[in-house]
Amino acid sequence: MRSCGVALAAIVLLAAGNAYAQQQNEETAPKKEESFEAELCKDKDAGEWFRLVTGEGDNCRDVIQCTSSGLQAIRCPAGLYFDIEKQTCDWKDSVKNCKLKNKERKVKPMLFTDKPVCSEGELACGDTQCIERGLFCNGEKDCADGSDETTCDIDSDPNSAPPCDPAVCVLPDCFCSEDGTQVPGDLPPKEVPQMITITFDDAINNNNIGLYKEIFNGKRKNPNGCDIKATYFVSHKYTNYSAVQEMHRKGHEIAVHSISHNDDENFWSNASVNDWVKEMGGMRIITEKYANITDNSVVGVRAPYLRVGGNNQFTMMEEEAFLYDSTITAPLNNPPLWPYTMYFRMPHRCHGNLQKCPTRSHAVWEMVLNELDRREDPNSDEYLPGCAMVDSCSNILTGDQFYNFLNHNFDRHYEENRAPLGE
Ligand SMILES: *[C@@H]1O[C@H](CO)[C@@H](O)[C@H](O)[C@H]1NC(C)=O
Ligand SMILES: *[C@@H]1O[C@H](CO)[C@@H](O)[C@H](O)[C@H]1NC(C)=O
Ligand SMILES: *[C@@H]1O[C@H](CO)[C@@H](O)[C@H](O)[C@H]1NC(C)=O
Repeated sequence: MRSCGVALAAIVLLAAGNAYAQQQNEETAPKKEESFEAELCKDKDAGEWFRLVTGEGDNCRDVIQCTSSGLQAIRCPAGLYFDIEKQTCDWKDSVKNCKLKNKERKVKPMLFTDKPVCSEGELACGDTQCIERGLFCNGEKDCADGSDETTCDIDSDPNSAPPCDPAVCVLPDCFCSEDGTQVPGDLPPKEVPQMITITFDDAINNNNIGLYKEIFNGKRKNPNGCDIKATYFVSHKYTNYSAVQEMHRKGHEIAVHSISHNDDENFWSNASVNDWVKEMGGMRIITEKYANITDNSVVGVRAPYLRVGGNNQFTMMEEEAFLYDSTITAPLNNPPLWPYTMYFRMPHRCHGNLQKCPTRSHAVWEMVLNELDRREDPNSDEYLPGCAMVDSCSNILTGDQFYNFLNHNFDRHYEENRAPLGE
């Protein structure tokens, strides 16, 4: 997958080049081209890539899209084909749809009509059948044509959470702000202590307890004199529960990261509420029993591979009375984001190609992961996309680089709104 990421960057450059070429053509192009273009674009979505010519070979590398400034063409780098369903370049062997001109057309519901089609509390499917509003985007096809489940991102789910209303959402039970960067309680940043969160994922066992002992050696203190602490998102496989018990006894937080740590990443995107209950509720039962945790302190959830499980994951969290999730990543932003509640709409876009963020209102806190700025020197280095976890900032190689990277990310939080820093 890594090389595909690089490939994608290459396409973007190519696209820019072609857009320029296109503009040049347009000035001399006759009217005929325009009607050809209108015909081509009439049934395409914004940003959708499609083929003019189908077939294997170079034809399968070329795609175009309709933009406000005309058609735009790109070609996948050598060795890759364009996958029309995934809408990205991929290895030749993985692409099975060179014969398709465009991605499958899904029937859309009739949510916006001049006159209402259905009675109150109901909405219309693509074929004008009326069904209950709540059945739209609930993960199950209820319309005969399946159109109730075709457009369900946060902007189109008819049952999506309302935008932040600070009059209704008040601390300590609720917190939101329009862009997510506001300091809770409107405190001046200078009066806010800078919190640092240190978290670890996966099993706790002999491979890592030594390292944890070294980090939490009793010499690193908070300003109040207490030892620094971590949160462990523990998965079951290979975990040594007496080590977990010991971590908890020392005052670290234990949270859950699933039983199976299923290594099919898509599993987590598609899992049902019941799958989530088994994985996360089950993990809490196991942890409490075998690490003898009796103080109800296991309240946090993080999904494996940071694969957000959409509404199903958050519905499980409400049903199982988990307090917070720490899976959702916010794109690199200055100033960074404060944690927020999911009663209201998420204050940032759903970040990551394959992610399925919750759209509905949930009584769950989000300890959002702010992406880190991976540049050593933000004043001179070129822009690079952020990284969610320290171990995915793979350009950092030496201790000095790591030191500079931590320092400038600290400043980014400390000098601005003092949102918690960490992963
Ligand atoms: C489990 O962890 C404890 C320390 O917390 C250690 O003494 C024990 O040897 C570990 N067990 C195994 C099987 O590694
Ligand atoms: C999960 O959904 C994706 C599309 O959203 C699909 O490609 C994939 O096959 C599904 N995986 C499973 C395990 O159902
Ligand atoms: C479990 O913890 C409780 C309270 O913390 C304690 O009373 C009990 O003895 C512990 N059980 C075992 C088996 O260690």
